[in-house]
Amino acid sequence: HTAEIFLDLHFTTGEVDPLLFGSFVEHLGRCVYTGLFEPDHPAADAAGLRTDVLALIRELGVTMVRYPGGNFVSAYRWEDGVGPADLRPRRLDPAWRTIETNRFGLGEFTAFTRAAGLEPMMAVNLGTRGISEAGDLLEYCNHPSGTTLSDLRGAHGAPEPYGIRLWCLGNEMDGPWQVGHKTADEYGRLAAETARLMRMIDPSVRLIACGSSGSGMPTFGDWESTVLSHAYDQVDYLSLHAYYDPDATDQASYLASAQDMERFITDVIALCDAARVRHRSTKRLSLAFDEWNIWYMSRQRPGQGEWPRTPRLLEDVYTVADAVVFGSLLITLLRHCDRVTAACLAQLVNVIAPIMTEPGGPAWRQTTFHPFAQAARYARGQVLQLHVASPTYETPKYGDVPLLHATAVHGEDGVLTVFAVNRDPAAELPLAVHLGGFAAGGPGSHSVLADADPAAANTASEPDRVTPRTRTAPAVEGGRLTATLPPLSWNVIRLP
Ligand code: AHR
Repeated sequence: HTAEIFLDLHFTTGEVDPLLFGSFVEHLGRCVYTGLFEPDHPAADAAGLRTDVLALIRELGVTMVRYPGGNFVSAYRWEDGVGPADLRPRRLDPAWRTIETNRFGLGEFTAFTRAAGLEPMMAVNLGTRGISEAGDLLEYCNHPSGTTLSDLRGAHGAPEPYGIRLWCLGNEMDGPWQVGHKTADEYGRLAAETARLMRMIDPSVRLIACGSSGSGMPTFGDWESTVLSHAYDQVDYLSLHAYYDPDATDQASYLASAQDMERFITDVIALCDAARVRHRSTKRLSLAFDEWNIWYMSRQRPGQGEWPRTPRLLEDVYTVADAVVFGSLLITLLRHCDRVTAACLAQLVNVIAPIMTEPGGPAWRQTTFHPFAQAARYARGQVLQLHVASPTYETPKYGDVPLLHATAVHGEDGVLTVFAVNRDPAAELPLAVHLGGFAAGGPGSHSVLADADPAAANTASEPDRVTPRTRTAPAVEGGRLTATLPPLSWNVIRLP
């Protein structure tokens, strides 16, 4: 029952866009406040940013960050978050039933992206607001000077334009939970006209239209077709969102969650390309998977009567099993790197996040931190088209599913990296990689994330309970690499 991979360096899918390793910061729970921003914390810098969190963000290898929501953005007034901090209004955030102090806003976010070395991806409010306010925000951010709004930015201490390139036209506008939820026709028209104004103000922007909030949405398919019938020519990307809930399905299907993501991506590519034909366009839309993760959504309790400040919301603790499924989702994004050219792990700190913090206390890595950090580091270069022959197992949701899920990247440095998941919770999976003429220049390495207890997790008291471990180096002989993948494991095999 050996699983086999056949590869050839000439057969490539495409080059990995660094924007594939984006993440997401929303005004939600403790993502911002006491997450990345905590002026009273002993590790805070002059801007109030936690330097312990900044160090972990750099180690994670994130390249880009979406902001300020999420559901939050659909009732947000960006003007509330600029200017002197003590004059900023306190508002109700209806999306998360929280009081928003606006202590953190656009200027603080820019200080954060610069300190962390991240490209910003800004979302405009197309829920309660529209074309005009999106134009104002863009003018405030990107126009050099000489207008009221650009000079206001200067007066707020930022004479140089922020130069924000990536813009989301609203968030999850197909979702009935969204403030200012719209029909596909309403949204498609609004997105197209907002995009037209934004390009008039700054032709260099890259614009992302909202696709479906998930492949299970009743409007999935119709939504994309209708939105693109209005906005195809005006946008550069269409977005996808997907969360996988370990409690909402049987274990075998949960471990195969990437099957859903694979199909979602290929379906959205088909919808985009059909719209291209109808528009007689030569432009090929890119996909922005700008929210993806594991989320114990069914454990979430809706907010009750009170309106707290900085509540603990969506603070899921991830297990080894979750990290393996998470790794499999990363493999899926990489396998489609020719069309999925931007992605955001939702979210970055505390809220369904790879990094956790305690107020006034430590910051630590969740299990899911590790697959992300390894992929962000080593999946740079050309993704190879693999032929995979794997034993399968039966799942209630997806039928027969391969036990091996894998991709391989030929790095700019010449190193071949195989990312592989063994979905079998009970048995090791022997792996053979037929190297198709790739001549190894030295001994390889094999890193594994697995545990005798698949429910093991990292916590404040045991922050490094789960980390990747080095296995015996893989054997290479006669153009064939062999290794053994432990039960339920995430593996990174590298060959120089
Ligand atoms: O990431 C959490 C929430 O999930 C976001 O606010 C929303 O866009 C999605 O439903």
